[in-house]
Amino acid sequence: ARAEDLKGKHILITAGPTYEKIDPVRFIGNYSSGKMGYALAEACARRGADVTLISGPVALQVQHPAIRRIDVESAEQMYQAAIRIYPQANAGILCAAVADFTPETVASNKIKREGEDLIVRLKPTQDIAAALGKIKRPDQRLVGFALETYDEQIHAQEKRKRKNFDFIVLNSLNDAGAGFRCDTNKITILDESGITPYPLKDKHEVASDIIDKLSAIL
Ligand code: C5P
Repeated sequence: ARAEDLKGKHILITAGPTYEKIDPVRFIGNYSSGKMGYALAEACARRGADVTLISGPVALQVQHPAIRRIDVESAEQMYQAAIRIYPQANAGILCAAVADFTPETVASNKIKREGEDLIVRLKPTQDIAAALGKIKRPDQRLVGFALETYDEQIHAQEKRKRKNFDFIVLNSLNDAGAGFRCDTNKITILDESGITPYPLKDKHEVASDIIDKLSAIL
């Protein structure tokens, strides 16, 4: 029954880390593998959706012909692509681990070691999720992720409201086998009507749980 339940829908997905350049050979990044976002893109495409996958630098490849991949590197590039695409989408799923800070200036040459401390001043990046939440129309849906280290559910629920997500997927860091670089994940979904915990599963099964939830409100 759910085979083609997303037919005619256009889903925007952000995935992977961002790289923030320090100089021509160095960057600030994070451990996101992109696996969860790519699993979501495959799940949406298999269920009939057209997918635009805005991807930071990852070692993954897309298989399905209905996935259009846009490669970006920095938070700023991901932001520009996301605000351009979202108005044409029925829903957005914001799975990327976007850098919160980026170097204020990028050195044009490789920075040399000169014995002294190196100070790299960082400025905040744009919050892509919050920006899409602001331009979201009543006919559109928006799904976000959260990774918290304490008072997880309180922070996730606050984040959902602040960024105008229809629901938020909370990743657990406290469970073995969940989160960055793993093939499995353990999530809790929070929406305005409450909290649903899920067991530890392969990221592909987690993706289909998330898409079931999205499909029901699309
Ligand atoms: O505020 P926090 O980074 O914890 O929020 C996580 C959610 O917001 C995720 O869905 C993430 O993809 C998104 N996000 C974003 N742009 C940022 C930071 C986070 O889209 N600059």
